[in-house]
Amino acid sequence: MSDDIESEFGFEPAVSATGAADGAAQKPARTSKRRGGLRRRISAVIVLLSALGIMGASYAAFAGSSGASDTGTSKDDIEAGRQLYSVSCITCHGANLQGIKGQGPSLVGVGSAAVYFQVSTGRMPATGQGAYQARKVAKFDEQETEQIAAYVQSIGGGPTIPVGSLRGDSATISLGGQLFRINCASCHGTTFKGAPLSAGKIAPSLNEATDKQIIAAMLSGPESMPVFSDNQLTPAQKRAIVAYIQTIKASKDPGGAGIDRIGPVSEAIVIWVGGVGALMIAILWIGAKTR
Ligand code: HEC
Ligand code: HEC
Repeated sequence: MSDDIESEFGFEPAVSATGAADGAAQKPARTSKRRGGLRRRISAVIVLLSALGIMGASYAAFAGSSGASDTGTSKDDIEAGRQLYSVSCITCHGANLQGIKGQGPSLVGVGSAAVYFQVSTGRMPATGQGAYQARKVAKFDEQETEQIAAYVQSIGGGPTIPVGSLRGDSATISLGGQLFRINCASCHGTTFKGAPLSAGKIAPSLNEATDKQIIAAMLSGPESMPVFSDNQLTPAQKRAIVAYIQTIKASKDPGGAGIDRIGPVSEAIVIWVGGVGALMIAILWIGAKTR
């Protein structure tokens, strides 16, 4: 009786798969071994599927919060973003993003790309007045940044950062180099170290910029940087520029700690989940066979 219940709930195979708790719990089942064996296999499959489901779900949750995929677009995210905005941005940009004279410009139509750029590079929330906001340690994490961006996007619209890969493959690097020299090098320099511009402004170094920040900068044109809309530089051309910048940077400082090397991590997790899944199939299969 108790064995039947255990099989129904699918606990037993998971336990006996370790080879540990065999024995005592096993005895009452002997009388109906055939039936029990089949059930065990079925419940083993159920355990396996639900375990994989849970792993898949937690992977999705992880990927979401790491920024490896598009986040911050659900209703909850927009609401969370509204609250963060009310605390940290409203005093300068106004209750309806309309801007406040002498404090901050309107954010209507700047888009989530501009918010992502400004907040993820720590420029916003601004610490004081003055046009030039230098890169700082970001006040908000990736998820909060996406939430604020989603809120601003939901009210005012504007350019968004595309989902999916933001960096072209190695075949695009030389095209990226040409485009960089034509469009970017005049301000940021051919070695990305940045340069002073007129009127006390600075084109900063690109050494710390992540793929997403480079795309966001092109789409939003912060400060005196021009906007590079998708008409001026197609999404593929933007990805080629990213490939060029990041490849040259990586070859310049091979020991540098990457901030946004999220890709390999999530691949590792996929492999891990897949690998553990295969292991579990093997374990359950052996467990079922040795009965
Ligand atoms: C102390 C006032 C202040 C606070 C607080 C502040 N900002 Fe700003 N913000 C500014 C000023 C001033 C500028 C224009 C300076 C510049 O372009 O570098 C600006 C520019 C921006 C821009 C660029 C607009 C454009 O046209 O591209 C964005 C986006 C932005 N802020 C978002 C935010 C967000 C999001 C927050 C809250 C996390 C925030 N700001 C908090 C003052 C502020
Ligand atoms: C007219 C000069 C100018 C040109 C041309 C220009 N930029 Fe910029 N760029 C700037 C300025 C100024 C900033 C700083 C904006 C700020 O601090 O708000 C900036 C900031 C950036 C940043 C942020 C760096 C960081 O980590 O803080 C990136 C990335 C960037 N630019 C990429 C590009 C790329 C890619 C191109 C070519 C497609 C380009 N820029 C063309 C002037 C320029």
